Amino acid sequence: MAKDVLILGIESSCDETAAAVVKNGREVLSNVIASQIDIHTLYGGVVPEIASRKHIEKINQVIEEALEEAGVTLGDIDAVSVTYGPGLVGALLVGVSAAKAVAYAACKPLVGVHHIEGHIAANYIEHHDLEPSFLCLVVSGGHTHLVRVADYNKFEIIGCTHDDAAGEAFDKVARAIGLGYPGGPKIDKLAKEGNKFAIEFPRAKIDGHEFDFSFSGVKSAVLNYLNGCEMKNIEINRADVAASFQHAVVEVLVNRAVNAAKLFGDNQIAVAGGVAANSALREAMQEGCDEAGIKLYYPSPVYCTDNAAMIAVQGYYDYMAGSRSGLDLNAVPNLKIGQR
Ligand code: KG4
Ligand code: ZN
Repeated sequence: MAKDVLILGIESSCDETAAAVVKNGREVLSNVIASQIDIHTLYGGVVPEIASRKHIEKINQVIEEALEEAGVTLGDIDAVSVTYGPGLVGALLVGVSAAKAVAYAACKPLVGVHHIEGHIAANYIEHHDLEPSFLCLVVSGGHTHLVRVADYNKFEIIGCTHDDAAGEAFDKVARAIGLGYPGGPKIDKLAKEGNKFAIEFPRAKIDGHEFDFSFSGVKSAVLNYLNGCEMKNIEINRADVAASFQHAVVEVLVNRAVNAAKLFGDNQIAVAGGVAANSALREAMQEGCDEAGIKLYYPSPVYCTDNAAMIAVQGYYDYMAGSRSGLDLNAVPNLKIGQR
């Protein structure tokens, strides 16, 4: 029987300090996340300098906890994988430095992992039948991409946003209607009490780019609507605004993803990233996929938002494909998908 492969994953690209141990790329032995949400909420969004400082305070403790919870020592680990981009440079550097120190001290290989490839890989954790090729809709706070996952390490971007990411639009609209940070989960909750057909917000199409996205228009339309109501002294129904905005975003995401899967002949779609936790998106994707005879996959909410288990999973597939990073590995804030 082949020996088990244990990967220690480390993630610090934004406002979660996380470490995890994953066995054979699919079985999570531990998944420790120290969230900084409380402190950033005070400022209405992530403050990069604070994020870096908090990562420094937490990183060693989180790594130790991940090993302990998994019941393993550093000696048992086969490789250390770490997010090295994209993300906030100061935040990324904390994880990268810690991973290098651990790998060097324990004489283990180091594998730099792409954060978005990690989000995609989160789907492998609970869906052991899911294997490439498939189409992935990546919707996070910083990214909105349609990606064809041809193999575990082979990605082709077929669509992306021209301006705001979907999660960014959720966060900005949430702030405008007074919900605070992080906006996505708050809009998701409030929208359940609203009427999604109450207000018609625009669905942007980009000429000549069938699978690209633009969310700055819908965000501005919400802001204009709110200003208009204020000027005319019309009472704002925040639940209706949340539901109508969410409906506009979800409709575009589902249509583009299902149409792309049909065109590329993919019969599996996976959704990944923080916005994949959105209940309306999950419901509408399920409906769209059922109609088109496509199998839909999405991770549990804890694996949708930032975590290190997904970095250990992608780290496993990169490691098995021979990927190794040197101790000169650096943070790359604008790392492109598929870039090695
Ligand atoms: O993937 P993620 O944790 O971090 C990035 O890599 O960006 O995504 C965070 C984003 C935030 O914009 C947050 O508002 C959004 O995901 N989000 C949601 C939900 N949960 C998180 N958006 C909509 N509905 C949700 N339930
Ligand atoms: Zn993320």
